[in-house]
Amino acid sequence: MKIAVTGKGGVGKTTVAAGLARLLAQEGYSVIAIDADPDANLAAALGIDANDAANIVPIARMSELIAERTGGIPGTMGGFFKLNPKVDDIPDELSVEADGVKLLVLGTVESGGAGCICPESTMLKALLKHVIVRRNEAVIMDMEAGIEHLGRGTSESVDAMLVVIEPGQRSIQTARQIEKLAKDLGIPRIFLVLNKVHDRDEEETMRKYIPDLPVIGMLLERESIRKADLEGKSPFDSDAEYVEDIRAIKERLQAEIGDSGA
Ligand SMILES: Nc1ncnc2c1ncn2[C@@H]1O[C@H](COP(=O)(O)OP(=O)(O)OP(=O)(O)O)[C@@H](O)[C@H]1O
Ligand SMILES: [Mg+2]
Repeated sequence: MKIAVTGKGGVGKTTVAAGLARLLAQEGYSVIAIDADPDANLAAALGIDANDAANIVPIARMSELIAERTGGIPGTMGGFFKLNPKVDDIPDELSVEADGVKLLVLGTVESGGAGCICPESTMLKALLKHVIVRRNEAVIMDMEAGIEHLGRGTSESVDAMLVVIEPGQRSIQTARQIEKLAKDLGIPRIFLVLNKVHDRDEEETMRKYIPDLPVIGMLLERESIRKADLEGKSPFDSDAEYVEDIRAIKERLQAEIGDSGA
């Protein structure tokens, strides 16, 4: 299964993406987790040690590699470079593996953003396309609200996009914008994850404000999740209720996309 997790800043994208990646790995899937958020912090949520996480170099900053593969000069726009650079070795060579999850950190494209036509963004797009369209592993992507890394030809192969919302109109407005982008890009299924929910009333209110998107699952607001984050740990290793909530999401996803397991 290939799943993209998006939503407004701070809603819990990384918490959801990390949990799904860890759970799928525990169940025997080969898993690639992709940190596509410019403010990358999926490593810690996966439970990767802080020192190891600090040593990860995002692909977008590997100038020599990008120059070698694209024939272009990173940091510049225009000029000639390959639009289909070789990337098939990157998931195995340049990921960091922990608890059965291979993590790839994409990083930020400095010159003109993810939508620009420059060697870095071409490289990242080619890599995402390879991982999503060609590889057999389960892929979980932690993305920002802007999903422009997912171009045409890639989006159609994403099985589902999860849009995380929290109790608050701002995250709901962002979810609506993402829904539109995702539909325009041809992503076949879009689901909501309700996060940081306090009670049944709140859950119902959240559903009411965005009735057209189906809810695939919910995580309660829990001190233990916040505490794990503060300590730089993964709640997956300490919080059984969190794992159960993530499991419920995973099971519904499997049913929706017709995935019968590892
Ligand atoms: N269900 C929850 N209960 C309590 N705290 C939570 C819950 N979900 C997430 N958090 C906390 O909220 C903060 C933001 O969560 P997270 O980093 O997963 O969000 P994000 O959407 O990835 O943020 P960003 O946009 O900065 O990448 C973290 O401190 C996290 O521990
Ligand atoms: Mg995040």
